[in-house]
Amino acid sequence: MSKKTFLAPSILAADFANLAHDISLVESAGAQYIHVDVMDGHFVPNISLGLPVVQAIRPHIKGIMDVHLMVMNGAECAKDYIEAGADNITISLEACIHLHRTVHLIKSLGATAAVALNPATPVSSLADIIDDLDMVLIMSVNPGYGGQSFIENTYRKIRQVREMSPDVLIQVDGGVDLTNVDKLVAAGANVFVAGSAVFGADDVTKRVEQFLKMM
Ligand code: DX5
Ligand code: ZN
Repeated sequence: MSKKTFLAPSILAADFANLAHDISLVESAGAQYIHVDVMDGHFVPNISLGLPVVQAIRPHIKGIMDVHLMVMNGAECAKDYIEAGADNITISLEACIHLHRTVHLIKSLGATAAVALNPATPVSSLADIIDDLDMVLIMSVNPGYGGQSFIENTYRKIRQVREMSPDVLIQVDGGVDLTNVDKLVAAGANVFVAGSAVFGADDVTKRVEQFLKMM
């Protein structure tokens, strides 16, 4: 594979009573990112975790702490998550009025900036911001819950992003598993978020290794 690829296990599917243990398990097996889903019960129907948990797990993460904000006030709270040690902040295009300002705020505070697109949001919405982004997140489920089925138009959207930018990292999130990760690589994606496919496995270490081999 010519492009670099990364596995980003989503701790939404980990054991919330043993997050440090589960993070260490996937990092020891070779996962490069730890994906942290912050949900506010407004942008998405579900509530997951917030700043106190992010602060608590930061010392246990050796690799990249990847904070996926599924919240209405991402522009206001991004700074707090960066101060809590987020290496990457992803904000949802649909929840951000001043996207350009927020992307540049995130970068000025020393984190990388990504923008997430919901399944029904066209890739063309990124035309005037993509050159400023470190990463684009193509949501392959409607955000809010783990364990949902992968939406097939994701492959086309990944190819469209790759046509727009040869260099931007493309992350894919939702329903990613061993049956589709190779096709996602072929479409041009680099960063693979997987929650239930990693933490739902009987042998988590082996599952991470299987992913890394296929990417
Ligand atoms: C969904 C979250 C995902 C979720 C993925 O809204 O953004 O990161 O944890 O879970 P799986 O891999 O189980 O679909
Ligand atoms: Zn996510």
